Amino acid sequence: MRHKVSRRRFLAAACVGAAVSARKRAYSRESSPKLAVLGGKAVRNQPFPSWPVIGDNDEKAWLDVLRSRSWNRLGGTRVDQFEKSWAGQLGAGHCVATASGTSALFTALNALGIGPGDEVLVPPYTFVATINVVLLQHALPVFVDSDRETMQMDATKIEAAITKRTRCILPVHIGGSVANMDLILEVARTRGIPVLEDTCQAHLAEWRHRKAGTLGAMGCFSFQASKNLNCGEGGAIVSDNTELIEICRSFHNQGRGGKDSAFAYARNGDNRRLTEFQGALLLEQLARLEEQSRTREQNAEYLTRQLRQIPGIQPARMYEGCTRNAYHLYMFRYDGREFADLPRPRFLQALRAEGVPCSGGYVPLDKEPFLKATLQSRAFRYIYSEKEINELEERNRCPENDRLCEEAVWFTQNMLLGPRAGMDQIAEAVRKVKKGAPALARS
Ligand SMILES: Cc1ncc(COP(=O)(O)O)c(C=O)c1O
Repeated sequence: MRHKVSRRRFLAAACVGAAVSARKRAYSRESSPKLAVLGGKAVRNQPFPSWPVIGDNDEKAWLDVLRSRSWNRLGGTRVDQFEKSWAGQLGAGHCVATASGTSALFTALNALGIGPGDEVLVPPYTFVATINVVLLQHALPVFVDSDRETMQMDATKIEAAITKRTRCILPVHIGGSVANMDLILEVARTRGIPVLEDTCQAHLAEWRHRKAGTLGAMGCFSFQASKNLNCGEGGAIVSDNTELIEICRSFHNQGRGGKDSAFAYARNGDNRRLTEFQGALLLEQLARLEEQSRTREQNAEYLTRQLRQIPGIQPARMYEGCTRNAYHLYMFRYDGREFADLPRPRFLQALRAEGVPCSGGYVPLDKEPFLKATLQSRAFRYIYSEKEINELEERNRCPENDRLCEEAVWFTQNMLLGPRAGMDQIAEAVRKVKKGAPALARS
């Protein structure tokens, strides 16, 4: 089932919420059992916390950059400072800031030498950028089906997807939880394939108390507007590997390097640099990240305890090794059979009417017409035979992911930043929709 609401538009709507007087009571214990979507009173009539949070010092930090006249990182200090701070916070050896998460992934794939004729293992349950960067290198994205319970790449299926052309495993820590890194790193080690972590949604998440993004050869972050650490648009690559990080640093700066000259080029490159304005904002936002992450975690755990009591609602399970979830998204699966066969779009509509913004999440990427068109494009046909492309289509079928895309429901991270009463309201709204489902299904 396709969804017309993009994640970014959905976030904007979630932040604005129902516009009502702040003085009105947010929560009514005597809320009518009649569903709001059928004209009853909504469980919640207040917006969830808005995002991004603007701190006291953000404006000054921004103005300081403006007045310094050093707006570009090559003449400034903020991006350098941020890179040091972010690497330090993660326990990574090095960090290169980039213009976006997509830029970080593209730069990292370039450093790994991924190109035409190569295969990259990716999950199908991710934002399109994860596969766009593979296609931009004229390599083939090979999907490893999803584990529906955790919504992550099913690491038990990686081995079967490997061929002699596999050059990279690209797991995504979707929603801020962590993919099964024990299995992924083990397969990668035995087969000698580098792991590039897409950590764009998993700031400060942990696998066995090590930060996500520092477990593979490199980790890529996004600081795009919806992300838990945000400067509008931005990204970063972290790694302990000095050689790889130096290639990334050079590539993202037009291939400069080698000699101490603005016109000394070590390789073909690109401009994927972050500006000083973004660096300054990130330094300010970073000061709040740990506390916000703790609030999200506490609220999410509290919400999970309530939601898992409701038959038909299954919060995404975390692998035992995931010692910290960043909760960029709060994700659960909806089983309409427990809700009087109410289709998911009706469930989402009813929940929104109760004052709880939600979305149905991703669509199956393997079925995207643009993917087929790209694989059939002139450049790809130069590189791959028709047989190879047809076989890829077969290999890329992901039946578990198809089901997941029909079952998933998401709340955005900002909804986890308010007081605990908000979690009670979310759970009450779900229980109310469940109670009212037979009437709604008949309406
Ligand atoms: C999983 C994932 N990968 C990659 C990206 C790309 O990041 P950006 O939007 O900063 O380019 C995003 C964010 O949108 C993402 O969620």
